[in-house]
Amino acid sequence: MATVSAVADDERIGRIDMRDLAVYPMDHRIAAVSCGGDRVTVDWDDGRQSRFHAVWLRDNCACPACRHPQALERSFLLVDAPEVIRATAARVLPGGHLEVEFESEAPGEPPHRSRFDAGWLRRHCYSDWARAERAWRPRPWDTGSRSIPPTVDYRAVMNSDTGLAEWLTAMRDWGVVLLRGAPAVPGEIQRIAGRVGPMRPTNFGTVYDVVSLPNPNASAYTPIGLEPHTDLANWRRPPDYQLLFCVANEAVGGDSILVDGYGAAEALRESDPDGFRLLATQPIDFRFHDDGCDIRDRAPTIEVDAEGQVVSIRFNNWLRAALDLPESVMEPTYRALRGFWKLLRDPRFQIRLKLEPGEMLAFDNARVLHGRAPFDPSTGHRHLQGGYLDRDLVLSRLRLIERG
Ligand code: OGA
Ligand code: ZN
Ligand code: ZN
Repeated sequence: MATVSAVADDERIGRIDMRDLAVYPMDHRIAAVSCGGDRVTVDWDDGRQSRFHAVWLRDNCACPACRHPQALERSFLLVDAPEVIRATAARVLPGGHLEVEFESEAPGEPPHRSRFDAGWLRRHCYSDWARAERAWRPRPWDTGSRSIPPTVDYRAVMNSDTGLAEWLTAMRDWGVVLLRGAPAVPGEIQRIAGRVGPMRPTNFGTVYDVVSLPNPNASAYTPIGLEPHTDLANWRRPPDYQLLFCVANEAVGGDSILVDGYGAAEALRESDPDGFRLLATQPIDFRFHDDGCDIRDRAPTIEVDAEGQVVSIRFNNWLRAALDLPESVMEPTYRALRGFWKLLRDPRFQIRLKLEPGEMLAFDNARVLHGRAPFDPSTGHRHLQGGYLDRDLVLSRLRLIERG
């Protein structure tokens, strides 16, 4: 095993082009590296250690032969590389970066050499400690505190990257954010959404008007109260983030209700583990139809990831179709749904507010359920505009702001 020490601190710190537009500040230096064939071990100046598999390093080589210099995408073909990829040498370059040499890939071919920027390497370290540090966690709600929903100012969102980042970070981490101070005019929702990207069109259009209609095709277009729900549960891919912009809210009633879906799901797991398991595994049927469409999907009420963490909720009473389930699970499913529904109605998971004209809620439709109190249209005009944003575009915008 060859060990090489770091170069002296006063060496000039150049950077290695990793063909990655994200920023990767060099906030730690490599103190030493050692090469053990299938792994390269990097010791950092803060005492942390990273171990990189030779195959991972080879796969992430950023040289012009391995990563397209303009497209910035991988051109290295792992499938054509030797079955066993071995690093034969590793050293710290002047400037503090890593160079790795691999076993020759074909007889007579010189060994491939790859250079890795130390900042990039540290940001991509996949040791347990690094993955734990990087792991994203939703910020748990304390519905009794004034921090929910966090609020942002319209002008800051529209005029500065800092304001925009604040809005999107709250959406990502809290799952809900209230924007204030917008002009209370129809169409403003689309201008705000334009700070992120195009909105996601659905069978209701790109921007839909939530008003009480004489011939409604959806419960939202009536004055009746709406139980906590997630939107478009009948779609294979329900929308990620929902925007609800208030143009007018003069009628008596019509308060907005927001529900901490993750909190309610955890409470169900605690109080009724069998019910939770059933809702997390048994797909149920959803449907919306009108004169122009008939959109159906089947999915579990609670989606959990491989680690058992709740990732999304689908719950919508008026979009639930006639359930098509094995006879033996019909009754337990109804019981579990009812138990979950009661938790969704529990004030300890809810926040209530009445939207003012020029205010807009943005929330994570996989995490937060929303509802509304009934309103009396004879007492005044109520007009909201709604629409959806893809998570991919929200997170991309945040990363672009971070890039600077
Ligand atoms: C909706 C909805 C809530 C409201 O349109 O999806 O839930 O306050 N509206 O009208
Ligand atoms: Zn290469
Ligand atoms: Zn809704």
